[in-house]
Amino acid sequence: MRLAYSDTRHASILVLLHGFPLSREMWVEQLASIGPLYRVIAPDLRGHGQSESPSGAYTMEEMADDVVELLDRLEIKQPIVLGGLSMGGYVALSLVVRYPQRVRGLILCDTRAAADTPEAAKGREETARHVLQAGSGRSMIETMVPRLFGKTTREKHPQRVEVMLAVMERTSPQGIAGALRGMAIRTDRRGDLKRITVPTLVLVGEEDVISPPAEARELAASIPNARLEIIPAAGHLAPYENPAATNDAIVRYLHHLDWPAIPLRAPS
Ligand code: MLT
Repeated sequence: MRLAYSDTRHASILVLLHGFPLSREMWVEQLASIGPLYRVIAPDLRGHGQSESPSGAYTMEEMADDVVELLDRLEIKQPIVLGGLSMGGYVALSLVVRYPQRVRGLILCDTRAAADTPEAAKGREETARHVLQAGSGRSMIETMVPRLFGKTTREKHPQRVEVMLAVMERTSPQGIAGALRGMAIRTDRRGDLKRITVPTLVLVGEEDVISPPAEARELAASIPNARLEIIPAAGHLAPYENPAATNDAIVRYLHHLDWPAIPLRAPS
């Protein structure tokens, strides 16, 4: 008897890159809910979580190369779906532009393609110096919190803010400084967006004040095959703040991406 079968071996591998100064722990809800459906890999970018924190500026290109090195180490040859939030989005853009053959789909969350303005870059350098001198990122993190989380999360789920605060406080001063200095010198990727041909999902928290919905709309409009989804009741950390809506958007996107690739085979 030759049985008919479905084979999901083409199903997506999803790689998720966290924001600054967080770690893969921000994807806890995606690992839990999407992990059983697809293979989900969430690395700690250099300087964050349990990865090493070398000295110097961490360019987005170096961070993207680290991710490619991880894929090679895991012997992942098939093109992946790459998602990145904020700084993770800058890294994802660097990776997709420089290694287009490694990526079959792109998810950009609460991020932008533009480089820092000279004022913003100067501010990052001052913060990096201050964090290294103080030997702690605490004061920087405290000023970031009101802008990182949406009003809804701050008012209704303060305990969720506390969990991420603890994650951020575990990031070393050297890791914080390296990422700040790397983001300050990052390449403006706006000119590259039209070359991104893979299906792209742009996600943004409706309460994001760091990379707000208007900017996400512009980003989606600049990428040829992109769709925008606004995540309600969430700020800059939309996947963490409203995981149900985010996971739903990601799974719908992945389903569409995989549907044509899953072969329905009749007995031969
Ligand atoms: C992030 O969440 O990764 C940061 O807001 C990125 C940035 O500072 O540009």
